[in-house]
Amino acid sequence: MIKILTIVGARPQFIKAAALSRTINNRFDDQIREIIVHTGQHYDQNMSSGFFEELEIPEPEYYLEVGSGSHGHMTAKMLERIEQLLEKEKPDVCLVYGDTNTTLAGALAASKIHIPVAHVEAGLRSYNKEMPEEINRILTDHSSTFLFAPTEKAIENLKKEGFDPAARPPYSINNPKVWLSGDIMMDNLVFYGNKAEKTSKILADLDLVGKTFALCTIHRDFNTDNAVRLRSIIDSLVDIIKEHRIKIVLPLHPRTAGKLKNEPYFRQIEHSEISTDLIITPPLPYLDTLMLEKNSTLILTDSGGLQKEAYFFKKYCLILRPETEWTELLDNKAAFLVDSNTELIRSTFASLLSQVDFPSVTLYGTGETANFICDALLTQNPKS
Ligand code: UD1
Repeated sequence: MIKILTIVGARPQFIKAAALSRTINNRFDDQIREIIVHTGQHYDQNMSSGFFEELEIPEPEYYLEVGSGSHGHMTAKMLERIEQLLEKEKPDVCLVYGDTNTTLAGALAASKIHIPVAHVEAGLRSYNKEMPEEINRILTDHSSTFLFAPTEKAIENLKKEGFDPAARPPYSINNPKVWLSGDIMMDNLVFYGNKAEKTSKILADLDLVGKTFALCTIHRDFNTDNAVRLRSIIDSLVDIIKEHRIKIVLPLHPRTAGKLKNEPYFRQIEHSEISTDLIITPPLPYLDTLMLEKNSTLILTDSGGLQKEAYFFKKYCLILRPETEWTELLDNKAAFLVDSNTELIRSTFASLLSQVDFPSVTLYGTGETANFICDALLTQNPKS
């Protein structure tokens, strides 16, 4: 029996953790004991506990109540508390997901006290170190012993930084192991894709049954904390609504909502006739989000997860960023970088509306990534 301490804290990590916990419970119950730690980085019901209930993720055994704050403040609080827990629980592996401050805190705390780190979603790079997520990814990968890369491109990125995919055991932080594992988010899309259709009432709730709509999310700090960029994106949405007589659903992340509520132009939009077509909601549950993605015409987003979900549901995606970590989407012409450029957003949206030949390659695995990760950790652990 090996003991894995899984550290989660932000919305996309709850979703990824659901796939691994489900697999451990269903297939590896007698070989893996998982302890879930929630740092509390995301704490609102609709950003956190709602996902645990909906995705039936086991209750976290530890909740660290770190909450919001500056990057340094948040990461430091997490580091101190995670270190204490690791000392107490002495797991065989500390498992972290993605690129958030929670990921970095887990990786730093564990590696410093010689607990092997497993990084799920290793090797992704935007090559823009001004993003906090890029710093988190690089430092986490370089503190890890087990690196689960979702794509070939991620493996290539790791090779450039000196990782050797042909490394031989025994593995350690000095001799780390890189695997091409597929993307764990695909496990959930395969598992929940049809369930969403059966259980979600979101289309009726938003009066969208039989209607044409696009879905948009904005939460990255370089978009939300830059008033010019944010305005430019919102202006583009308004233009698209007017030009194509289409509705746009905009579930607002708390950070984005906080910025927009102080903007007079946005309050004007909320009180104008456009507001019947620009449908603003709080952050939505996972199955409702899947249902909207599946039934939308196009997706506009700065989120990494939505880019891939768009691909899974065969929807073209406009990426509201100057670069992306998921470059295979660009190579296959499934997604397009439009940044916050109003003209580019409008023209790309217009040209994609009439596109029909969506690419059909499999880019992110077949939904068996959690199984792969469990197998890999078991075979590599001397105790198993
Ligand atoms: C974080 C991750 C990002 C991930 C995203 C998913 C980092 C550096 N970034 O960004 O990689 O894609 O989560 O959502 O870790 N807030 C609330 N309620 C909550 C959570 C947050 O009100 O439940 C507010 C707080 O005011 C906070 C702000 O939202 O300051 C931003 O939250 P934070 O965790 O800093 O970053 P995210 O933008 O969510």
